[in-house]
Amino acid sequence: MLRTVHTVAAWRALRAAHHAAGRTIGFVPTMGALHAGHATLFDAARRDCDVVLASVFVNPTQFDESTDFDTYPRTLDADRTLMAAHGVDVVFVPSVAEMYPNGTAYTVQEDAFSRELCGAHRPGHFTGVLTVVMKLLQIAGADRAYFGEKDWQQLQLVRGMVQAFCLETEIVGCPTVREPDGLALSSRNVRLSPAERALAPQFHAVLNSAPDAATARQRLTELGFAVDYVEDIDRRRLGAVRLGSTRLIDNVAR
Ligand code: PAF
Repeated sequence: MLRTVHTVAAWRALRAAHHAAGRTIGFVPTMGALHAGHATLFDAARRDCDVVLASVFVNPTQFDESTDFDTYPRTLDADRTLMAAHGVDVVFVPSVAEMYPNGTAYTVQEDAFSRELCGAHRPGHFTGVLTVVMKLLQIAGADRAYFGEKDWQQLQLVRGMVQAFCLETEIVGCPTVREPDGLALSSRNVRLSPAERALAPQFHAVLNSAPDAATARQRLTELGFAVDYVEDIDRRRLGAVRLGSTRLIDNVAR
């Protein structure tokens, strides 16, 4: 049965019992508004570990636009149903005060890759992400933590942070889950109008088919996307576009 805890102390009490019994812990951090992409993270944690902990926390410090934070979907009852169906044992649902007892006096800042791509378009976003992930990893004390590859830049930065700060949790990346038409699952997809939803799969199609990043940018612009960026980095093409007020990100192997 899924248990809900709201405080660090409550989770630590459960964790101590699991550690004493020699059980491994898999952790899936989320901001809620869960979908089938999150379900694959829970399934992977369930497969690998004895105990599955998830968190649901809409982290205010990673939103660069207050309207995005205010309108971020909050669906805890449905989230609990999905987590229970995918074998999550405990969900940590903290308040902002629980997560930020010192406000933002202490943060984790990366000074290189976090300034590029999404970081160049969303000032402070990755400092907010890395700070909350550092806190969540410290709280969880998990053997493994699971992140989706849709947020490719986030995944690389979390891996770098774990290495830089000698954290002991193994970071596991899980493949992007897509709609049958190719659109990557995202909690923000519910905000797309019917016309935007019809156009959205072209984002993935163009990332896949364009011969180079400049051509992808041009094709997407012609189709009606506002392009934040499309860049080829190493063996991956990463992009972010806006349809109306909704921002979509995606990436494909090259
Ligand atoms: O990917 C997300 O949902 C968030 O960025 C995360 C990792 C839960 C941190 O708030």
